[in-house]
Formats: sequence, C-alpha cells, structure tokens
Amino acid sequence: MPCAFMITNTRFVFFTVALASMLLQSCNSGNSTENQSKYSETEQTYQKGFEIVTQNCVSCHSPNANAEARLAPPLFAVKKHYSENHETEKAFVDAMSTFLTKPSSESSLMPHAIDKFGLMPNLGYTKEQYAAVASYIYNTDMEKPGWHKAHSNRNEEKDLHSAEDYLNEGQKLAMATKSVLGKNLLNSIQNSGPEGALAFCNERAIPLTDSMAQVLEASIKRVSDKNRNPTNLANKEELDYIQKAKLELANTGSIKPSIYQQGNQWIGYYPILTNDMCLKCHGSMDSDIDSKTLSVINERYPMDKAIGYKSNELRGIWVIEMAK
Ligand code: HEC
Ligand code: HEC
Repeated sequence: MPCAFMITNTRFVFFTVALASMLLQSCNSGNSTENQSKYSETEQTYQKGFEIVTQNCVSCHSPNANAEARLAPPLFAVKKHYSENHETEKAFVDAMSTFLTKPSSESSLMPHAIDKFGLMPNLGYTKEQYAAVASYIYNTDMEKPGWHKAHSNRNEEKDLHSAEDYLNEGQKLAMATKSVLGKNLLNSIQNSGPEGALAFCNERAIPLTDSMAQVLEASIKRVSDKNRNPTNLANKEELDYIQKAKLELANTGSIKPSIYQQGNQWIGYYPILTNDMCLKCHGSMDSDIDSKTLSVINERYPMDKAIGYKSNELRGIWVIEMAK
C-alpha cells in the first residue's frame, strides 16, 4: 500500500514539474511585448495568491496572534522550512502545492507542527490556485510587518464616502469571513463528521473570525436571536433588525442588509441564512441532527437555542463595525 501511494505521488510531482517548466519556458522565450504581457500575468498570479492568503490562510497562520491563540505556525516559519529544503522557486512551489492539494504527513516538511496543531485541513482549492499562493509566499517577505496589507489597496484606493460604500465594504468583509468559516466547517465535517466538526466550531469559530478581523481592520461578529454560544446573543438593536428581516424574508423571499452610523463608526448588519448543510447541527432534533452530534451539542452548549431550523431561514446576522 505505501508503495502504491508513493508511485501516484511521484507521478503527480512529475506532472507538476513538467507543467511548471513548460510555463517557465514560455516565459523566457518571445519578444518584448510578449514578455510584458507575461509580466502582467505574473502580477495577476501574485494578486490571486495574495487574495487567497489574506482571506483564507492568515485566519489560521496569523502573523499577529500570540502563541496560545495560534491555530498554526505563522507563515514566515512555514516559508523558512520550505526555503531550507527547496532552493528554486519551482521546487518550492511544487512542494508546497503538493502538500496543500492533499495534506498528509508523508508530504509534510513540518512533522512537529502536525504533532502540535494537528494536520492542516484540505481547503478545496485547485492546484493552480495553490501554485499562485505558493509563488506569492515565495516572492513576499513574510517577516516584514504588515506584509498582509501590502497590496490590498493597490488597485482600488479605499476612498469610502457614502453609506452605500460602507455597506458594500462590510458585505465584502462578511463574505470573506463566511467563506473561511464555511470551508473549514465543510472540511471538518468531511474529515470527522458533524460531531467532530462541532469540536472545531466550539474551539475555533471565534479566534478564526477575530484573526480575520485583524487583517481586515474591522470588527466582525456573528449574533443570533436563538444563539448556541451564550456570547453570541443579539443585543436590542440587532434583535430589532432580526425581527424586521424575518418579516421581509417571509414577504419578499430575501433580506436587505442594513447600515447605520454610531459615533465614529459605521455598523453593518448582514443576514445569515441556513442551507441544508447547516441542518446537521441546527436542524430538527428528530430528523436532521444525529444522536452523537446532539449529545455533544448538549454537553458543550447546555443553553443551546440554535436548533429546529429549516433551510433558507434567518439563522443570525454578521455585525461588522468599521471605523470612519
Ligand atoms: C483551518 C486552519 C488552517 C488554514 C485555513 C490554513 N492552514 Fe496551513 N496549516 C494549518 C496547520 C494546523 C498546520 C500545521 C500542521 C501541518 O503541517 O499540517 C499547517 C501547515 C501548513 C504548511 C506546512 C505543511 C507541512 O507540514 O509541511 C503549509 C505550507 C501551509 N499550512 C500553508 C497554508 C496555506 C498556503 C493556506 C491558505 C491557502 C493555509 N495553510 C491555510 C492550518 C491551516
Ligand atoms: C458541525 C456543526 C455545525 C454546522 C454544520 C453548522 N454550525 Fe453553526 N454553529 C455550530 C456551533 C458549535 C456553534 C457555536 C460556535 C461558537 O461557540 O461560537 C455555531 C454557531 C453559529 C452561529 C453563531 C450564533 C450562535 O448560535 O452561537 C451562526 C450564525 C451559525 N452557527 C450559523 C450556521 C450556518 C448558517 C450554518 C450552515 C451554513 C451552520 N451554522 C452550520 C455548529 C455548526
């Protein structure tokens, strides 16, 4: 068995190497206009890599989190291990994207990190996306403070004026955070079933959103009128919005987000709707939530109110606070 695994693995590595060298060759040949367009392709790759890294890597590999809050080694430490073992960019990118495509102790360069934090979950990106990510990491000084903000305003100077600008900005922050939580939840359900994923949510849901908020320089929380975690209970203003939003959903089939000013802040509310995946942990006790999952929920959240949902119901809201 281990042999069979190694053969497919080697083939895969070979394929990536071949592909990467083809790309490299096509970069080196050609006249100057072609080179120029290749240059912007490289730029696009970095931009793509940068977006994925800030939206979906830093949440666990936070450059800022203190040692206890950390969910994974910071990226500069990861980069150091990969650079020490792989000199050229091509070898670096191959090794990293091979690991990321299918995290395993066989392809790991950091077995101690696996002992300490557990194996990294599979995040479900394509090989091309991982190559862009690895190439971005290779070419960026990860030890430089603030690297994760470096290009964020490069293409669009953040020049927010109207309520609508802030409403849209808040929406982006909410969606970026949602995609991190959603992907991680899905992966842990796939890897260890809903009852295993529950442990992940319980321990990690909050630090995850916090570290994302650090990167995006805004505060982000999830609240609900029927909360599971006692700290996620909506306050009076939030409850007012939730009540109105439920009526709106019933009457029109959708919910508009909302934004208002308070002191020197803009505060945005964005609906969180359920889908079928949510019901495994927030659905009916009789038909959706299996008994193992239910007993873990009862044990961890004795005050849980977050059950009995169907698909496409308002489960709660994102609350995004942004400095003016
Ligand atoms: C849900 C948390 C989480 C997210 C999100 C995450 N990682 Fe990880 N990562 C880990 C953990 C935990 C480890 C340490 C254990 C290990 O090596 O598998 C790790 C290890 C790694 C390693 C070293 C692998 C090795 O053992 O050789 C690389 C490279 C890496 N991550 C890159 C990334 C990149 C790039 C992203 C974004 C696309 C990312 N990680 C997103 C949790 C995460
Ligand atoms: C694997 C089980 C699981 C699944 C699946 C799941 N959740 Fe949760 N959810 C939890 C747990 C556990 C908490 C409490 C997390 C915490 O302690 O902060 C939670 C909390 C929340 C909260 C914060 C408010 C509260 O009740 O504490 C919202 C909103 C939420 N979930 C929405 C969703 C949505 C929407 C989906 C589907 C896309 C979903 N959840 C899927 C387990 C799950």
